[in-house]
Order: sequence, then C-alpha cells, then structure tokens
Amino acid sequence: TGGVVVAVDGTSGSGKSSTSRGVADRLGLRYLDTGAMYRAVTCWMLRHGVDVHDAEAVAARSDEPRLESGTDPLAPTILLDGDDVSTAIRRDDVNAAVSPVSAVPEVRERLTAAMRSLIREAAEGPGIVVEGRDIGSVVWPDAQVKVYLSAAAAARASRRALEEGGSDVEATRASLLARDQIDSGRAVAPLVRADGAVHVDTTGHTLDEVIGIVVGLVRDRA
Ligand code: C5P
Repeated sequence: TGGVVVAVDGTSGSGKSSTSRGVADRLGLRYLDTGAMYRAVTCWMLRHGVDVHDAEAVAARSDEPRLESGTDPLAPTILLDGDDVSTAIRRDDVNAAVSPVSAVPEVRERLTAAMRSLIREAAEGPGIVVEGRDIGSVVWPDAQVKVYLSAAAAARASRRALEEGGSDVEATRASLLARDQIDSGRAVAPLVRADGAVHVDTTGHTLDEVIGIVVGLVRDRA
C-alpha cells in the first residue's frame, strides 16, 4: 500500500479521527488531522482578539499563524507558533468559533496548500490517511481511496460527550449540529460526499468494525 492517499471526510463526531488513526496504524501509514489545522488557526484568532465573525478581519491575518502538524497516527501533535496546542484546540470556545473561521476563503487557501505539501511528501513514502471535510473533493481529489463517514446525530453526540469526559449530551449534540450546518452550507469547499467516495454509516458499528471496513477498501483498491 506504499504511497496510497486515503481521504476520510464526514460530519463532526462521525468517528473520522478514531477510524483514520486506526487505519493508518494498521497499515503503517502517516495520518493528518486537517480539522486540527483549522482549530489551531481559530485558536490563534481568539488569542489575538480577532473577531471570528468578521470574515475580513480573519482574512487579513490569515497568513500569520505558524503551524506544524505531526503525522504519527499514534501521537498526533499540532504546534502553533512553536507551542503544542493539541489540548487547547478541543476547547468549547474553539468548537464555537472554528466553523466561521473555516468558511473564510483565505484561511482555506493557505491551509489547503500546507495540506497538499504534507500529503505529497507522505505519498512519496509510506502513504497517508487524511481526515477532514473536503479532502476527497478539493484538497486531494486523486486520492486512491475516498470514504464518507456519517452517523446518526444521537450516536455522534453521545460518542463526543464521552470523549469530552462526560459533558452534557444535549449541548454537545447542539454544538455538533450547528457546526455541520455551517460546514455543509458554506460557499467554499462545503462538506459533501466526494465523487467516488464510499459512504460508511458508522451508527451501530464498533470502531473496530469501521476500521476493518476501511482497511478492506484500501487493500482492495490500492
Ligand atoms: O474534524 P473537526 O471536527 O476537528 O473539524 C473542526 C472544523 O474544522 C469543522 O467543523 C470545519 O469547520 C473545519 N474543517 C474544514 N475542512 C476540513 C477539516 C475541518 O472546514 N478539511
């Protein structure tokens, strides 16, 4: 499977991260969490007092954050201006601000270019699993394997609330649905099922089952 690019797109809380990391680990591939990149830029905007609902203000400062993404599936890291922000990017203030920041074209252009260079490098080596919203449609349409993950809202909310250490399921559900609505409705690179993407509904499947399904797709097509 050397050199394969696997694009995993889908809604918030559909199991993209756990699935992508598991697949990369089992197949010896690198792993890139592109949501973490959007989250880190969002963190930067919040830290620098930029109004995240002012698209022009976000665009004007979009090339200032310096990001470094690690691609180890067992220990994904993201540095922002040299600081490890792996924990900070999961906070509620970031959850609430990330979709409007991600809808700004200048932010997407810059991050998409960074993603492509990381993917190109990994594709010359072992290959990579890349998760996000627009990987199969915009970032890397030539991916050999494209997966679109979804899950029923109730399943997504309880999974995410559990990950967040028992936060309120109803609040988590509302936050996930709000992000999905913005991500799917935006003008640039909305969340869509890419051409050729295999739809996997993870509702009622264990993580191991979903990893097994995607590993099977990679083995069949790569
Ligand atoms: O995957 P995660 O939930 O961490 O993504 C956070 C947010 O980043 C999404 O809600 C979306 O607004 C944005 N995103 C994006 N394009 C990607 C990955 C994430 O717009 N490829």
